[in-house]
Amino acid sequence: MIKIKNVTTHLGQKINHQIDGEDRVIEAEGLVMLPALIDPHVHFRVPGAEYKEDWESGALAAICGGVTTVFDMPNNTPSCISKKRLAEKKAIIEKQLKIPLRYGLYLGADQNHLDEIAKTKDQIVGLKIYMGSSTGDLLMNDPKALEKAFRLAAENSVLVAVHAEDEDLIKKRSAECKAALQTDPKSHSMIRSPEVAQKALAVALELAEKYKTRLYVAHVSTKEELDLIRKAKMKGVQVFAEATPHHLFLTTALYEKLGTRALVNPPLRDHVDALWQAIKDQTIDTIGTDHAPHLLEEKMRPMGSAPSGFASIELYLALLLNAHHEKKISLEQIVSLTSTQPREIFHWPVNSDVVLVDLNHEQVVKDSHLKTKAKWSPYAGMKLKGWPRYTILKGKVYDTQMVP
Ligand code: NCD
Ligand code: ZN
Repeated sequence: MIKIKNVTTHLGQKINHQIDGEDRVIEAEGLVMLPALIDPHVHFRVPGAEYKEDWESGALAAICGGVTTVFDMPNNTPSCISKKRLAEKKAIIEKQLKIPLRYGLYLGADQNHLDEIAKTKDQIVGLKIYMGSSTGDLLMNDPKALEKAFRLAAENSVLVAVHAEDEDLIKKRSAECKAALQTDPKSHSMIRSPEVAQKALAVALELAEKYKTRLYVAHVSTKEELDLIRKAKMKGVQVFAEATPHHLFLTTALYEKLGTRALVNPPLRDHVDALWQAIKDQTIDTIGTDHAPHLLEEKMRPMGSAPSGFASIELYLALLLNAHHEKKISLEQIVSLTSTQPREIFHWPVNSDVVLVDLNHEQVVKDSHLKTKAKWSPYAGMKLKGWPRYTILKGKVYDTQMVP
């Protein structure tokens, strides 16, 4: 039995709390207990890019971030687009996991494999559709295939998660963008403009409404998408919106400092205030990290060959607690966005996992501290106040400051 003494709940009550599991007493005076976090959007890179992350390093990074459940994306090599590939991926994950992280997997949408939706519906957390291309080969923007995917997902009670960026518009804007400008990392935010996201999302919302598909909009990054989502929610469309830490905390100003390292899809924007407003008015339902590790030497390549994405899972909670410290978000909202709501949206069973946080601990983010194989962070140098101290997963305590 784990006995947690004198811990404060996120609602401010001082309690003693017990969890079935190893024999351990934690004197938790001064610590606050939250349900362990669910990260509904990670890329743990298996199979195919284990040098960027695998489930040993990924699980360690997750635990250090207060996360005990992750939902992993299918843009692997090969892409995870069938029952067979899901089984193969799962077998590798089981071999790699040292810390027994809880996880769910997405099926990738491929227009030639849409019959896999019915075959895998009980094994997946959702169907991921890339309406615009990003890391990996997954892309499905053919209107007929999209119709079919939304219809089949609804028929099989499968949630559709979209990467909503319009591929044709990306290509068109890229062709129009002057060659000189295209070598400037800033052009990434211009080419993948708010209109690019808005156009794809409008299509997805229309299909969700038509087929009554439950729709999860990954990494909402613009005011324009938020307006569309608000309207759809008012109409009764079953749509849920995810925000990422990087769109909440970083802006296009980062290009100056980080160059190609600042590349991410959808790109950095200057819509931070609109996103925080949408957290307040509950247009945003979840926070997902889009933990997308790439090595520094890959990120430093010139425009055109540098990959997009940031590793961030181990800073997920610290960034939010720091925002709490800055009075941008309450602990109750953090719990709702990182646990209650993802659990409801993805129909994920309740468990006893918790994270104990020290709201007063201040620490500067350092690349050398990171457990992710990416070993670099766009947040390096930031001083954050509020960090996870113990993460309790399946009745075992992990001291986030002690893990090797
Ligand atoms: C992701 C990756 O690297 O896997 N990159 C990113 O910029 N977000 C892919 C994705 O989800 O778009
Ligand atoms: Zn992603």
